[in-house]
Amino acid sequence: MTEKPLALGILGHPIGHTLSPSMHNVAANIHKISISYSAYDVKPENLKDAIDGIRALSIDGVNVTVPHKTAVIPYLDEISPEARQIGAVNTITRNGEKLVGSNTDMYGFITAIKENGGVDPGGKRIFVYGAGGAARAVVYGLAMEKAMEITIANRTESKAVSLAVEVIQSEPETNLKAIGFGSNKLFDSLSMADIIVNATSLGMGGADEFPPGAIKFNKNQLVVDIVYRPLITPLLARAREDGAKTLDGLWMLIHQGASSFRLWTGKSFPVDKAREVLLTKL
Ligand code: ATR
Repeated sequence: MTEKPLALGILGHPIGHTLSPSMHNVAANIHKISISYSAYDVKPENLKDAIDGIRALSIDGVNVTVPHKTAVIPYLDEISPEARQIGAVNTITRNGEKLVGSNTDMYGFITAIKENGGVDPGGKRIFVYGAGGAARAVVYGLAMEKAMEITIANRTESKAVSLAVEVIQSEPETNLKAIGFGSNKLFDSLSMADIIVNATSLGMGGADEFPPGAIKFNKNQLVVDIVYRPLITPLLARAREDGAKTLDGLWMLIHQGASSFRLWTGKSFPVDKAREVLLTKL
């Protein structure tokens, strides 16, 4: 009898162009383990039924993506401390009869910055654009790495303020600031930053260009985009022109997937091989 493949997948809406199945299949092939990783398009009103389906069908693990990362929390049996703090689950693992929610986005982002961006965020000044779900993982991760200062800028300033106030409670050693996107402090915060992160899902073309055209980057800065389609976003292209170092969003995606894969299988993840394959699929 052949061994039952590990049943894995991803829940999101829409789910059309996900790279996750390719990435996990690369890893499974290298380890010669049998997996079946499916993409499930789950409408928000069907999320509870989808989680019940995972229980009923004994699915071994799933990734959770936009827009379900927060909404899924009440349907799970256990939530890891990190996921609880960030308020978002991107990985569900079966532990016997229990479904456990974790967050590997924070690990993915921090690992990408350190290993692929070549910068340790500890002691650094950082500018984060965005205060939504993705930005929460980014800001908590940077604060836990003991960044010296994090300025959060957001179109809706009140969301930047609440995130900053919340993070200060658990990470008091980092100096948290919040500004609106139109603030006159924007220029100074950006030019003083060692690391600049776009943590919004904006493709950044169009009307809400980030940052405004008058601002220049410099060669001591690392500019990071969590967007990976296109791989070189307009922000990264501009940063390169100005001589700054850049880090694309594909690295974060791969490292969060690597951490999910390890949770499900206990095995290592071929990060470079996964990137090689995903670059052909963008
Ligand atoms: P995600 O999980 O991808 O972070 P989200 O929680 O909905 O999604 O957050 C989206 C982020 O992108 C927010 O910071 C949002 O700004 P607001 O809080 O002001 O909504 C930002 N964002 C989305 N569209 C934007 C736009 N057109 N201009 C500026 N910021 C935008």
